[in-house]
Amino acid sequence: MSGLRFAQRTAQGLLAESVRTIYFDHNATTPLDPQVRAVMLPFLDEVWGNPSSVHHIGRRARALLDDARDGCAAVLGCKGSEIVFTSGGTESNNLAVFGTARLLRDKGRHLITSSVEHHAVSHCFDYLERKEGFSVTRLPVDATGRVRVDDLRRALRPDTTLVSVMAANNETGTVQPVAELGALCRERRILFHTDAVQWFGKEPFANIHQFNADLVSICAHKFHGPKGVGALYLRSPLHPDPVQFGGAHEHERRAGTENLPAIIGFTEALKRFVRVPVFPRNILAPLTTRLLATVDACEGAHFRGSREHRLANTVSFTVEGADSIALMAALDIEGVCASSGSACTAGSLEPSHVMLALGASVAEANALVRLSLGRDNTAAEVEILCTLLPRLLRQVRGK
Ligand SMILES: Cc1ncc(COP(=O)(O)O)c(C=O)c1O
Repeated sequence: MSGLRFAQRTAQGLLAESVRTIYFDHNATTPLDPQVRAVMLPFLDEVWGNPSSVHHIGRRARALLDDARDGCAAVLGCKGSEIVFTSGGTESNNLAVFGTARLLRDKGRHLITSSVEHHAVSHCFDYLERKEGFSVTRLPVDATGRVRVDDLRRALRPDTTLVSVMAANNETGTVQPVAELGALCRERRILFHTDAVQWFGKEPFANIHQFNADLVSICAHKFHGPKGVGALYLRSPLHPDPVQFGGAHEHERRAGTENLPAIIGFTEALKRFVRVPVFPRNILAPLTTRLLATVDACEGAHFRGSREHRLANTVSFTVEGADSIALMAALDIEGVCASSGSACTAGSLEPSHVMLALGASVAEANALVRLSLGRDNTAAEVEILCTLLPRLLRQVRGK
């Protein structure tokens, strides 16, 4: 289906105001929780000071920012000074990768990452390799999307300064053996970063040290917090080179006036939804198991990811003889919001680099459907999709 045809059919779908909306795209984003919103509201009105101002209006904002930092630190189990508030997952990843690679460039120029990272990580490594003379090893994954610890062990070199492997993959939901990877790096005194954007709110969280990481990226809008805010945990006394300049904010690690309403919302979402994950595994696992069984039964559909090490909310599959755009359109017309992988590539027909890394062909990597459920999804919604899916796939494949 052409882009124009897709747009027309999507528009028709919207105009027809399809009878229902079934939102199965929680790995892209989640709605703001009403209680989080309520806590943010005063910060859009009464508390409007700049935390860097020395007068009493500014000092009040500063005190509330400090409280928020302490609140985050209490949930994460770290010091307040180990948290840098950012504009979200992308910025946290950029600061982690650029900031540490450049900080340690005189010590070594070899970096390691995986072949399934989000572009907010992988494009940083690409840039460092292309423009700044670093050498980058991209670890392969097995057919389920997992990095092997032995592959990392073999890839480590005396000049390796940074390893970055995500905690859970946004496209497949595959969970990585992050604690083991981190322990290996620590043993070898090499910095370890994990993009844990898809972990928080979904998987068990005791404290930040469980990842054995020196740097951890977090983002609020994946667990019912506001968009445009997140944090980078930095194990003390690490002080990466800044990537933005213009002020001494965040202990000189991230210049720019702090987005206090968003930080307050992020803190509230962390407090409410992380220690007890807001994505309830006991409810979501049976729902996605049902979806998985339907996918398994559909001709031409192939589950992609790990059945064993998978986020309970995520099921991804490729479809033979179809493409993602047609699949997304067919689902959207029925009111079902799904994704062809990373939201950033939605609408374009770029093959998913994650699928390619899992061993899919280019055609298969262009025909990915990701279903990611959330706390408000019901068994009835899942049944609707299970009934629809075989027909939709036949239709899109022209069978
Ligand atoms: C694994 C992962 N990392 C980073 C990001 C980027 O986060 P943000 O949207 O906050 O910039 C995303 C968002 O999809 C993600 O899934």
